[in-house]
Amino acid sequence: MQVGIDKLHFATSHLYVDMAELANARQQAPDKYLIGIGQSQMAVIPPSQDTVTLAANAAYPMLTAADVDAIDLLVVATESGIDNSKAAAIYVARLLGLSKRVRTIEMKEACYAATAGLQLAADHVRVHPTKKALVIGSDIARYGLNTAGEPTQGGGAVAMLISADPQVLALNDDSVVLSEDVMDFWRPLYRTEALVDGKYSSNIYIDYFQDVFKGYLAEQHADLADFAALAFHLPYTKMGLKALRSVLPTTTPEHQEQLLAHFEHVRQFSRQVGNLYTGSLYLGLLSLLVTDPELKAGDLIGLFSYGSGAEGEFYTGRLQPNYQQGLDLALPQRLARRQRVSVAEYEACFNQQLQWIAADQTIDYQHDPQRFVLTGQINEQRQYLDQQA
Ligand code: CAA
Repeated sequence: MQVGIDKLHFATSHLYVDMAELANARQQAPDKYLIGIGQSQMAVIPPSQDTVTLAANAAYPMLTAADVDAIDLLVVATESGIDNSKAAAIYVARLLGLSKRVRTIEMKEACYAATAGLQLAADHVRVHPTKKALVIGSDIARYGLNTAGEPTQGGGAVAMLISADPQVLALNDDSVVLSEDVMDFWRPLYRTEALVDGKYSSNIYIDYFQDVFKGYLAEQHADLADFAALAFHLPYTKMGLKALRSVLPTTTPEHQEQLLAHFEHVRQFSRQVGNLYTGSLYLGLLSLLVTDPELKAGDLIGLFSYGSGAEGEFYTGRLQPNYQQGLDLALPQRLARRQRVSVAEYEACFNQQLQWIAADQTIDYQHDPQRFVLTGQINEQRQYLDQQA
């Protein structure tokens, strides 16, 4: 029996800022952001969206009544959690109308946790093949205004339905992982923005990729030529390109060209949204599968997941015959329909997030077209609304 990703869907906000405009506002050359970092647009997350609403907005459109009946495990992976105790997954399960007989947990290990959730879910379905599991990576990447990390912000959520006989990608049982205590990026409980040693974190990312990829090749007696395409965690899209380039010399010039061409599809959506933290690798996979006409059923896809702190994993999946049927095919149109905001409007959004204080708060959500929104806080409890209920 094969187990893997049956459906894949994405949600972000309806707002974005243009990266050339942001570069000008920060007295940087636009090509530094557009080429050097590899980002064209960045999602601007309004205060009416948080980890919970983004996760629910990502999952809701892809779930049928039969899926809802079959789901008995929900994992929300995030490093932008809204509570130190209660799992975001509990709120998400309610908003999605899941059964009360569902195991709901939040997972954390920086940008890596959705992969841990995916592997847990796959093992769960291997033991209970009539059941399905929902795994959502949901985050808002925040480094701060006028910081070096600012052009690598973003936000959104990727929802994955894991089942037996999956439509999209059958997962192989071949993961190689690496994890050790590294201080490249972290966010102490008292901070709303991450602390990062940017250059160091980029070097560790490459080291981890090389380690787990070489480990995979050795364990599986494989080589780079076996792969149709590689998908990467994309904190900024140039990062994935650097990782890919670091292994290209081990294959033929023709295959190098093919891998580079596929990578342009991997990074297409992330280039328009920015870093998603936990969801980023899976937005790259979705982008590849939605936009790349050269892929075909049976192709082997390699996936590199990285979370600072640090943990890396390389694993593979086989593309299934009807993979297009499980994908969020309308995503390019939704991204194109987003509203561009000025740098001043982006900065206002950045500063208007719900405050970490006990007082009641109200959020102006009326202009947010997403189905699920955060409307404020009453008696120290976040208030969520289904605008279509
Ligand atoms: N035209 C074209 N390219 C230009 C340019 C121009 N005019 N000016 C500069 N560049 C290039 C530089 O040469 C450089 O390219 P290379 O890295 O290929 O040499 C690139 O633009 C960036 O320039 P800098 O290195 O000078 O940029 P910076 O010091 O301002 O910071 C950064 C870049 C370190 C990525 C910073 O944005 C940052 O700290 N980001 C957050 C940390 C991060 O994303 N780390 C990634 C690994 S950690 C991880 O993966 C987990 C996670 O999600 C956070």
